[in-house]
This record gives sequence, C-alpha cells and structure tokens, in this order.
Amino acid sequence: MESEKQITFPLLMCVGAAVIGSLQFGYNTGVINAPQKTIENFINTTYIGRYNETIPKSTLTAIWSAAVAIFSVGGILGSFSVGLFVNSLGRRNSMLLANVLAFIAAALMGFSKIANSWEMLIIGRFVVGLYSGLSTGFVPMYIGEVSPTSLRGALGTLHQLGIVVGILIAQVFGIKAIMGNDDLWPLLLGFTFIPAVIQCVLLPLCPESPRFLLINKNEENKAKTVLKKLRGTTDVSADMQEMKEESRQMMREKKVTIAELFRSHLYRQPLMIAVILQLSQQLSGINAVFYYSTRIFEKAGVQQPVYATIGAGVVNTAFTVVSLFVVERAGRRSLHMLGLLGMAGSAIVMTIALALLESQKWMSYLSIVAIFAFVAFFEMGPGPIPWFIVAELFSQGPRPAAIAVAGLSNWTANFIVGMSFQYVEELCGPYVFIIFTVLLLLFFIFTYFKVPETKGRTFDEISSGFRQTAVGSGVKHSPEELNSLGADSQL
Ligand code: GLC
Repeated sequence: MESEKQITFPLLMCVGAAVIGSLQFGYNTGVINAPQKTIENFINTTYIGRYNETIPKSTLTAIWSAAVAIFSVGGILGSFSVGLFVNSLGRRNSMLLANVLAFIAAALMGFSKIANSWEMLIIGRFVVGLYSGLSTGFVPMYIGEVSPTSLRGALGTLHQLGIVVGILIAQVFGIKAIMGNDDLWPLLLGFTFIPAVIQCVLLPLCPESPRFLLINKNEENKAKTVLKKLRGTTDVSADMQEMKEESRQMMREKKVTIAELFRSHLYRQPLMIAVILQLSQQLSGINAVFYYSTRIFEKAGVQQPVYATIGAGVVNTAFTVVSLFVVERAGRRSLHMLGLLGMAGSAIVMTIALALLESQKWMSYLSIVAIFAFVAFFEMGPGPIPWFIVAELFSQGPRPAAIAVAGLSNWTANFIVGMSFQYVEELCGPYVFIIFTVLLLLFFIFTYFKVPETKGRTFDEISSGFRQTAVGSGVKHSPEELNSLGADSQL
C-alpha cells in the first residue's frame, strides 16, 4: 500500500519530462540506419554539384562513416561534461539548457539538404551526440534523486524505455513510405526539434531534485516542499532524515573531482563496478545488432530485413517493459546475470545458425529467433541496469564525477563496437559473435563475485556498505578521508 501511494502525478511528470532526453538519444541512435542509401545519394549529388564528377567510393564511405560515428564522439564529450553543469545549475536546469544543443542540431541536419552541405549534417550529428551524452548523465541522476527508494529501479528503467522507444520510432519513421526517402529525410533528422520543444514546455513545470536543494544548496524548506509534492504526503520525515544524514557527511566532504575519485581507495570498488557494468552493456554486442541488424538479417537470408529489424525494435521495447515490472522484485544483480547468460546462449545459437546457413535454409528462421532472444535478454538486465545503478552506487558528493566516468566508458565502448564490428565481421565471418559470448561470460563471472544487490537499500546504506569493505580491506586512509565519507559514524 505504501508503495502505491508513492507513484504520484508530480513524480511521473518529472520522470516523463526527463526521459524525453533518453528518447532523443535512442532516436538519434536508430535514425541513421534505414535511410543510408538515400542520404548517400544526397552526398553524391552535392559532390557532383561541387566538383562536376561522381563521388569516389572511398570518399563516400569516409563521409558516411564520419556522419555515423561522430555521434558517439559527441556522446563521449557530452557524457564526460555532466559534472560541469549539474552542481552549479542544478539537475533540472541542466536538462533544460541542453535543449539549446538539440535545437542547433535539428536546424543543422534539417537544413543540410537545402544548403547542399554534408558538413552541416556531420556537425549536426556531433551536436546531437553532445546532447545525448549529457542526457545519459542528467536523466538517470535526476530520476535517481527524485524517486523513492522502493521505486528507484523501476523508474530508473524508464530511461532505457525512453531510449528503446526512440530507437523504435526512428526505425518506423525511417521506412521509405514514411520519411526515409529523397524528399523527406531532412525532416526525419530534424524531427529532434519536436521532443526538444515538448521538453522545454514540461521541464519548467517540474521541481528541482530535492537532494540537490538540500544537500548542495542547503535549502531545507524548499527541499521539504518538493518532497511533499513528489511523495503526495505531508509526512516526509523519513526521506528528510536520510537526506540530512547524507548532507551531514557531505558537509565534511570536499567536492569530489574526477581525479579524487580515482585516487581514493574508498571509491575504488564502486567505481570499478560502475565502469565494468557499463562495459558489459556495450561489449555484449547489442549495438552490433542495432547498427547492423539489417545487414545481419540480409546475410542470414531473411526476405524482408527492414521489417525484421523493426521486429527487433519491438522485442527490445517489450522486454524493457518486462524488466520495468520485475526489477524491484527480482533485484538488479540477478536480472543482470540472467540477461548476460541468456545473451551468451543466444549468441551461441546465432553462431550455429549462421554457420549452417549454407546447408540448411531453415537456419535463417533460427537466426531471427536467436537475435530476438539476444535482444530480449539484453533488456532484462544489461540494457537498463547499468544506466541507473551508478547513481545508486555513489552518494551525493562523488555521484556527478562517477556518472561522468561511467558515461565516458559506455560511450567509448559504444564507439569502438560501432567502428570495428564491420571489420571484425569480415575477418571472422559467422563466428563473430563468439567474441561477444566470451566477453558475456566474463562479465557474468564478474557480476556474480563483485556486484552487490542495491534493491530496496537507501543511497546511504549502499555507500556505507562500500565504506566498510574499503576500511576492512586493510588499506590505510587518512583520518580526513575517512571523515569525509562518514566512516566514523558507521564504525
Ligand atoms: C542501451 C545502450 C544503447 C543501445 C540500447 C539498445 O541504452 O546504451 O547503446 O543502443 O540500449 O536498446
């Protein structure tokens, strides 16, 4: 009953407005796939207009790859910069301000055809990458900080749901009959404008994170008012108590910079967990599917590869919803392990299907099933969990720095898979997914031994668990260092 009361309209509004940022990230991840040929035509026509000759194949490939990959470069820079904004502007205003980037990107991409400029397209992709990188930090941080403990995982999963819905919308809009054609592709890319407008209308109606107000700004009354609204009750003493405890510790804590995060032994374990979970998400090979699924299906002899790709998007969305409903019951750790193991199994089936394709035609159906299962298991755990667990593993002081480092690891790994998959696939043929299988099993072992369950524990309980491990590990800490983490109050 208690938890039913906790889902209030203001809380849903906050989360809903925030995840528009996730949707933008997903949309721009998926949007460039289907209209590849169409946009390549535009680049070629523009080239002919400028130089009076057809574009050489290598130049076309270089321009196209730049337009695709520069999105992740923007993401890397954006995700690493979250700390510059969230502590001074606040969480909500940072999200609001980031929309300037979305508008600039929409204009650059939307007008690139009229201006006959593929440069505008490339810069636009970079700018929307910056926006997306910032979003992957801002959104989970804000959601984690406004949510009640018992719903943090479920609401945190909405970030991933926003991403997958964005991917699906992009896949559908990208169909030739809708916007993936010679006339409308600029609209397809400029569409980013619309979610940005909606977010700019909704965010000012949402409150700032109460944790930010109390812990960073010391504005107790404001924090209390916001909490009452979010929780739909006048008795917010338990939440206030917990936040004050964290605040008391933070008063003594110098602001934690990224350099300090790496230097302190006390943060070593949660930082390692945060980074490896991000790597487990990207090095699972999920984006090999999302960037290249149409090609993979084509090779597997599927008749309508574009529709199979959309099928993957639908499965992706459906299983994120499943995860949303079970994550508070089953827990993060077990779902993550289940997901990794299931993905490894699916990858093996996929490999067998691709390897036997020549001799057994029906193997193409098995490959579709295997890819769908791969995606479904991804969304059970490795998709949503790494994004929101970082906010759970750290207290208010080191949280922004930790989210920046985790985001950087995620986007860098994303970039590496995106860039290298095609080459590695040429080398390994149907056996390419064996590499991901091995990695998935290693990540499974790591999760089994190292990742603690965070379900139902307050931020303070989680970080004091790590403090005790660090203190118990025999590493020497200065009294100031221990004080700063509040270890004195725990031991
Ligand atoms: C996660 C990943 C993203 C991927 C998506 C697929 O959000 O971070 O890179 O494309 O899941 O659903």
